[in-house]
Amino acid sequence: MTGPPVVILTGAGISAESGLGTFRDVGGLWSRYDWRDLATPEGFARDPGFVLDFYNWRRERVRAASPNAVHLALARLARDYGGPVTLITQNVDDLHERAGHAGVIHMHGTHLTALCAACGHRWPAPEVMHPRDPCPACAAAKTRPDVVWFGETPYHMDLIAEALAKAALFVSIGTSGTVYPAAAFAARARAAGARTVELNLEPSENKSLFDEAYHGPASEIVPRWVDSHLAD
Ligand code: APR
Repeated sequence: MTGPPVVILTGAGISAESGLGTFRDVGGLWSRYDWRDLATPEGFARDPGFVLDFYNWRRERVRAASPNAVHLALARLARDYGGPVTLITQNVDDLHERAGHAGVIHMHGTHLTALCAACGHRWPAPEVMHPRDPCPACAAAKTRPDVVWFGETPYHMDLIAEALAKAALFVSIGTSGTVYPAAAFAARARAAGARTVELNLEPSENKSLFDEAYHGPASEIVPRWVDSHLAD
């Protein structure tokens, strides 16, 4: 019997226990840095070296991190659940993939590729990116991280819309529910008839949209929820 479609949205909270910072928790990245300088096209145009140094540092932190019990439990769900599981992540790290999860939808891009701001060419990100790096395709010195900044359009929105329209269950994990369009996914899935579940350290901004909510460290509540869902 094929299980009904499940759509999962993850955020920075699931990589917190791998030692990677979140954005809006106490001590989060946006409490230490100004997102306008580091996560907007305008900030990049003002000082590309500063932005590339920030992402060089974050890429190095991701390389040093390991997937945790959350990434592993979600990969197990995708493998053992007898139906479609669509994983959408806001995270730009590759911890889902390194936990064995295939077909991850990175709506905010990924650390793993570099992007040419001139011709749109993508290539595997070097360890260290410099503003003067020439694009391998057009030679322009317009290298940038292949991540979606504020004011830019997230990737794969057509694929995401299709998954949300068919979802029977929508699960939001480790996200504050404050950044759109991801923050609207629970309402869109609900409008399409899905049951909605939140797994987070604490109630998120859009907690009222969830039929069920479990709060606590993701490494504890997510494997437990996966076990119960696989046992259904
Ligand atoms: N277990 C479960 N949840 C956790 C844990 C944990 N160990 N640690 C933190 N959280 C929760 C926090 O309670 C918070 O609700 O994870 C959430 C992290 O929220 P944010 O820091 O806002 O991260 P996120 O929701 O992923 O941000 C969305 O904002 O800056 C942009 O592009 C960036 O993708 C990011 C987007």
